Amino acid sequence: HLLDVVIDNDIDLDGFGACEGTLSCSTCHLIFTDEQFKIIGTKPTDEELDMLDLAYDLVDTSRLGCQVF
Ligand code: FES
Repeated sequence: HLLDVVIDNDIDLDGFGACEGTLSCSTCHLIFTDEQFKIIGTKPTDEELDMLDLAYDLVDTSRLGCQVF
């Protein structure tokens, strides 16, 4: 779970994961490379896509970090 990795390692990403993975923020927005995007095992849910729409700098390979396992 990417969000846990960030939290466990105390990575200082300002405000990252503000809602702690409950899909009510977009602070965990991550931009992947095409290669990375392809090997992500999950597809975004409608809820994730809705929240992604609010994310800054949205691109085709954007995902919410807390939804990527
Ligand atoms: Fe809020 Fe991912 S931590 S949507």
